[in-house]
Amino acid sequence: MSVTVVDHPLIRHKLGLLRTHDISTSKFRALSIEITRLLTYEATKDLETEPLGITSWAGDIQVDTISGKMITVVPILRAGLGMMDGVIDMIPGTKISVVGFYRNEETLEPVQYYVKLAKNIEQRMAFILDPMLATGGTLMATIKLLKEAGCPKIRGLFLVAAPEGIARLEKEHPDVDIYVASVDDRLNDVGYILPGLGDAGDKIFGTK
Ligand code: URA
Repeated sequence: MSVTVVDHPLIRHKLGLLRTHDISTSKFRALSIEITRLLTYEATKDLETEPLGITSWAGDIQVDTISGKMITVVPILRAGLGMMDGVIDMIPGTKISVVGFYRNEETLEPVQYYVKLAKNIEQRMAFILDPMLATGGTLMATIKLLKEAGCPKIRGLFLVAAPEGIARLEKEHPDVDIYVASVDDRLNDVGYILPGLGDAGDKIFGTK
């Protein structure tokens, strides 16, 4: 498993703004999408391209193309939706697979309540989206679901990750690589990342 902290001045700048207390909903949304574009750039570095013959101004040439069929984006409801446009901006033809979980308050385990996967998932690389990798419970459930559906390759994109969530991922799914804007210090006693972003879902949806 690899953890790529996409260390770039643009990301550091935007993430710093994102951490600002009382940031507006519109600013939080815009910055989340901008950072996701940059994470997507890094997470797609090794995608295979296919040659395509085109007619250019100077005659017939071959160019490289990415097959949209190769990828599916998997936003985890609801906060993952706030990152989705960042990936779509970079890969407009990508198909979207949506998953949703709630937490069983007795067992504390994630329970699936919604799933709609892209067709031919067994031929696609999945990019899971969630702003926060905290305890990792929902992420583990999403990875399990995707693997059971036959998805051959899974990557995760997160704005902020906690060391605890990363350690769990490494133990349970060492074949999944992740791309993050920051690895923060730790979780607090109710599972929020410190210093983190607060409740990313509330900030994206304006439900604070
Ligand atoms: N979910 C959030 O929105 N924030 C955290 O810090 C952890 C989980």
